Amino acid sequence: MKIIGRSKESDQIKKALKLGRNLLVEGPVGVGKTFLIQNLLKDAKKKFVRVDGDTRYTEQKLTGWFDPPIVLKKGYVKEAFVEGPLVQAMREGQVLFINELNRMPEAVQNILLPAMDERMIVLPKLGEISAKAGFSVVATQNPKEFTATHALSEALLDRFEMIHLDYQDEKDEFEILKQEVGGNGKSDALAKALQVVRATREHAGVKRGASVRAAIAVGRLMDGGLNFEDACLMALPSRIELTSSGTDARELIQKLIQDPNQFEKKKN
Ligand SMILES: Nc1ncnc2c1ncn2[C@@H]1O[C@H](COP(=O)(O)OP(=O)(O)OP(=O)(O)O)[C@@H](O)[C@H]1O
Ligand SMILES: [Mg+2]
Repeated sequence: MKIIGRSKESDQIKKALKLGRNLLVEGPVGVGKTFLIQNLLKDAKKKFVRVDGDTRYTEQKLTGWFDPPIVLKKGYVKEAFVEGPLVQAMREGQVLFINELNRMPEAVQNILLPAMDERMIVLPKLGEISAKAGFSVVATQNPKEFTATHALSEALLDRFEMIHLDYQDEKDEFEILKQEVGGNGKSDALAKALQVVRATREHAGVKRGASVRAAIAVGRLMDGGLNFEDACLMALPSRIELTSSGTDARELIQKLIQDPNQFEKKKN
């Protein structure tokens, strides 16, 4: 899959990666954070270790842990230590790619602090581990309002360069949709699906609109034989969050299907 649009951001990310900077890419759901970072790391031929942040991620999972059977036999020796992704990336001089960093508990996030600027960490019973050249942290996050997240501390933010990705323009988003669904001959229906999806982002009754993934889902369902309306009603209502005063999600989508240009817009 090729990267569509985002040329300025790609250039900025490439340069930051080349310099070995710690980099945080922020933006709403589905704007291509994971896709962009993963592709640009590969293009730059950077070896990376990927971690997906979740609320139950632990400190040991990130750094590593001692394997009890070996500890019983030999004590806390080096070979009893099972490296986690942070220690592996530091020791081998690779990029630690943390997807959805702000879903990790704060205590886990804080382990990164010395690694990111002093390029070392101290682990109990193992001592100091220093980072080889080439080590850096590249992370993605959704803005606070999107998921149950733990806002990054000031200290952590201070160690990152930040790139913000917003929704693509309609033309680029349509190209992504065609690349994902393969819109030969059906591009009118795909364009209509995208219009409905984009309308949900501006609709006054919607707190969180649908992402390009939602449009991709509509496209795939139509590809499988569903008609436009049924595909939209199956894929979209569960993917939007209404404001408290909003009506029913299904009803709202139904109105947008009838006319995606006719709705009350959010006030900025
Ligand atoms: N610039 C792009 N070029 C081509 N495809 C893209 C681009 N941006 C996004 N996509 C496609 O859009 C979909 C969503 O992208 P991705 O998973 O990277 O979003 P995300 O920002 O990481 O979302 P989330 O916050 O939910 O993790 C993927 O199918 C990806 O292939
Ligand atoms: Mg992602």
